[in-house]
Amino acid sequence: MDLLELSADFLRPEEAARAGELPGKVDLPVILTVRREKEGGRFTGNERDRMQLLLRLGLSGFAFLDLEEDLQAPELDRRIREAGAGVIRSLHDIHGVPSDLSRRLAVLARNAREIPKVAVTPCSAADLMRLLETFTALGSIPKVLFGMGDYGFPTRVLAPRLGSLFCYSSPPTGNEAQGHVDPRTLDELYGYHRIGKDTDVFGVIGNPVMHSFSPLIHNTGLLAQGLDAVYLPFLVDELASFFHVADSLGVQGLSVTIPYKESVIPMLGYKDRAVAAIGACNTMRRGADGRWEGTNTDAAGFLASLVQAFHGVVPPGQGATVIGAGGASRAVVYTLLDQGVRVLVLNRTALRAQKLAQELGGRGASVQSAPLDESSVKLMAGFTDLIVQTTKLGMSPNENADPLPGYQFTGAEVVCDIVYAPDTTSFLKRALAAGCTVVRGSQMLLAQAYEQFAFFTGSPFPPGAKERLRERMSSA
Ligand code: ATR
Repeated sequence: MDLLELSADFLRPEEAARAGELPGKVDLPVILTVRREKEGGRFTGNERDRMQLLLRLGLSGFAFLDLEEDLQAPELDRRIREAGAGVIRSLHDIHGVPSDLSRRLAVLARNAREIPKVAVTPCSAADLMRLLETFTALGSIPKVLFGMGDYGFPTRVLAPRLGSLFCYSSPPTGNEAQGHVDPRTLDELYGYHRIGKDTDVFGVIGNPVMHSFSPLIHNTGLLAQGLDAVYLPFLVDELASFFHVADSLGVQGLSVTIPYKESVIPMLGYKDRAVAAIGACNTMRRGADGRWEGTNTDAAGFLASLVQAFHGVVPPGQGATVIGAGGASRAVVYTLLDQGVRVLVLNRTALRAQKLAQELGGRGASVQSAPLDESSVKLMAGFTDLIVQTTKLGMSPNENADPLPGYQFTGAEVVCDIVYAPDTTSFLKRALAAGCTVVRGSQMLLAQAYEQFAFFTGSPFPPGAKERLRERMSSA
């Protein structure tokens, strides 16, 4: 059901005077609100003025009036009923999820003539879980429930699946609140109008995560493949609570990004050889027994990009420098060693690089480690056939950060950067200027996402969708 909401508190007095004309001019049912500041609205007058505005406008053909839980106005209620309009009785919290939510909700839901609405602001995965519990508590009665802010974002997109009558969306203004979604994104990116009770849910967990390109990639693939499924960003502050959310929503598959690639491993019921060897997991799916199966597609994605850069096989005896020693670096080093490449790992925290070298090296594999600082460059002799940047240095908005400012490219190096926003980092720009072959983060992101898609769905990423995606990513 599509509806329009008029927030009369945003109107200037001369506009408010004509607001009653709106329902007659549009083909959608219109909801009227006059929201106070404490609910995130703009109405600054007193309650008597607000009531008068509601009374005057409420009888002008609006389909619903959205009235707050504490608004006790029998006269208004009676007049609304006589005018044939419905009442949405709402509970707002723009700062959190109230501790007495269930009690207040029970009061709201008592009046069968009204539609209860809950708009609260989860500030953690545990808060999101509490909000999901309210969906269950309300059962199948008509209701409107959603979480504001980034933690609440999944409840907006999944409204039709969760049994909420609708979710809220508004055109972009350039000054959006966190978790806001505009109607076009909701429909084109998330396929909102196709989501139903049986839609499978996939997603990416991370922190930060809201600007991830993974929803664009996977939703494009899911749509092209004709699957009844949607892929969402889940902002996660703490894994244990999030996995309650994942169970409650019946999430089928997850991409894992910063900073959870290593800490997610204990959640796995089964891990494949890549996860065990790399010590990092970037992809999970629910197995037949309900437990999580983990794999690591960063390695396969990196290898695919590498093979492309070397036009086939990586020549034997190459030496590579890898900057960073986190989860992404582990997948890169693992792949390089597998290809017989000698590796030098440079990291801000030298001890972490040392640990990585110890864990992934051995059995004839050659990995050295050193601190990432001014002295790094002279240690790189013999390790410059390939340079792989795996930290967030150079990522928007810190686009000028250069992980190796003292290094002069000769033009002979193959240079990879996992950062994909911007598409060409300042590090890659320097490499390109010297004539190097470069591999962009977007190439590696896409290559690993295609592997994830196959792991999630059992089907290869639809080839027709790949070209469209490459264009959209490079222009993003
Ligand atoms: P991921 O799983 O995506 O690799 P991670 O495990 O958090 O993420 O690792 C991030 C990597 O980027 C680490 O190598 C980190 O260095 P530290 O081990 O010293 O933390 C590196 N990194 C992050 N911010 C950095 C910065 N400002 N300068 C240098 N290295 C940085």
